[in-house]
Amino acid sequence: MSDGLRVGMLGCGTVGAAVIRMLHEHANEIERRAGTHVEVVRVAVRDPDRQRDVPLDPSLLVKEPDEIVSAPDVDVVVEVIGGIEPARSLILAAMAAGKSVVTANKALLADHGPELFDEAVRRGVDLLYEAAVGGGIPVIRPIREHLAGDRIVRLTGILNGTTNYILTRMTEDGSSLDDAVREAQALGYAEADPSADVEGSDAAAKAAILATIAFDTPVAANDVSREGITAVTADDIAFAKRLGYVVKLLAVAERVGDSVSVRVHPAMIPISHPLAAVRDAFNAVLIDGERVGPLMLYGRGAGGDPTATSVVGDQIELARGRAAAGTITTAAHAAHGESVRSLVPIDDVLGEFYLLLDVADRPGVLAAIAHAFAHHQISIKQVWQEGHGDEARLVIITHVAQERTLRECARTLEQLDSVKAIRSIIRVEAGEG
Ligand SMILES: NC(=O)c1ccc[n+]([C@@H]2O[C@H](COP(=O)([O-])OP(=O)(O)OC[C@H]3O[C@@H](n4cnc5c(N)ncnc54)[C@H](OP(=O)(O)O)[C@@H]3O)[C@@H](O)[C@H]2O)c1
Repeated sequence: MSDGLRVGMLGCGTVGAAVIRMLHEHANEIERRAGTHVEVVRVAVRDPDRQRDVPLDPSLLVKEPDEIVSAPDVDVVVEVIGGIEPARSLILAAMAAGKSVVTANKALLADHGPELFDEAVRRGVDLLYEAAVGGGIPVIRPIREHLAGDRIVRLTGILNGTTNYILTRMTEDGSSLDDAVREAQALGYAEADPSADVEGSDAAAKAAILATIAFDTPVAANDVSREGITAVTADDIAFAKRLGYVVKLLAVAERVGDSVSVRVHPAMIPISHPLAAVRDAFNAVLIDGERVGPLMLYGRGAGGDPTATSVVGDQIELARGRAAAGTITTAAHAAHGESVRSLVPIDDVLGEFYLLLDVADRPGVLAAIAHAFAHHQISIKQVWQEGHGDEARLVIITHVAQERTLRECARTLEQLDSVKAIRSIIRVEAGEG
């Protein structure tokens, strides 16, 4: 095609500016690979008068995003504003005007995905979102295309770089959670308000998007059972290390019979597990397919340049498929069809657990605690006492138990005279392969 792909951008922040730079600096390769020239024709920002470090004629910066989504000289809209509104309305308006859309907006897709995909199909346009999960890591397209012939059994991901950085500092430097959060903020990995990261909602939005495409069933962020890292202590990390584990914030989406379990929570994983080696702000997704077996994708889950790579890749895919606009999204949507699966409540999920208890230091304590576990039919895999007198603590690892039963057992333990407090309960993941 010779007339080029004309791109209207919504946003020129961390990701938008990196997209504009990449389109400019890699223009020749991109043109060759896309089969056409990809050109930014307008960019909406909040403040068009601000100086920006982008190779762009400043007259292309506008304040009115509505102009871009309806402009006849814009073929494709790239949404990198973020947030729910006005991003949602702008994407719907762009699709109503017959334009395919590329977005990096995980929060929007996790909350309003079905509405946006339905609209894309209705209008015969595409909605691509490789950058919304895992930043620079290609994970949406591999699941949607390369693995389309297989059945995914389980996805286990480290999907939030900020919390992975924080947990890495706690593991490698013995930092407290608060100190590690401050360090992440100083390096620009964590926001001034880090709650979306440390409370797990960013990872939950990404888990919802991955579960939706892996299991052909709509999963929203609110459907994801979520526990962040705010209760993880330096003691938990130290005990994990002594047991041969590391603590990670995991996003897990798995098939359980005809249903699907999707959850985000801290977990102890064996040091030999492939995700244990994912340090600092890196992300990874471990996919288990029925036929392909384990497959891991690893890389930078955020940052302007890595994320721009995914956004530009989507633009190139749109440029190549222009004659058949809408086919990518329609095919993905068709897969949802009748196969809506129910979600497994977290109470029903099975797993091993680590418990850290403050206990009285006197004879018979261990017997009373073991009796409580036996009463709930949970068998203990490992137990040891740490410290003496007022400092006495018990570390327990269970065999596989149902979450509900484990919580009931914890309530029984709390009633015992010999148990002063339950400090922590963390899930323990089995090894991989
Ligand atoms: N940053 C990352 O590493 C990363 C990674 C993966 C995905 N994402 C996703 O990418 C999206 C963008 O993130 P970002 O970090 O690039 O955000 P950002 O740096 O805050 O940039 C947002 C841009 O949108 C513009 N904007 C905001 N509201 C607007 C409005 N109402 N009208 C017109 N323009 C508006 C801003 O204009 P001004 O410049 O004038 O303020 C700015 O240029 C988000 O959905 C985010 O979740 C980001």
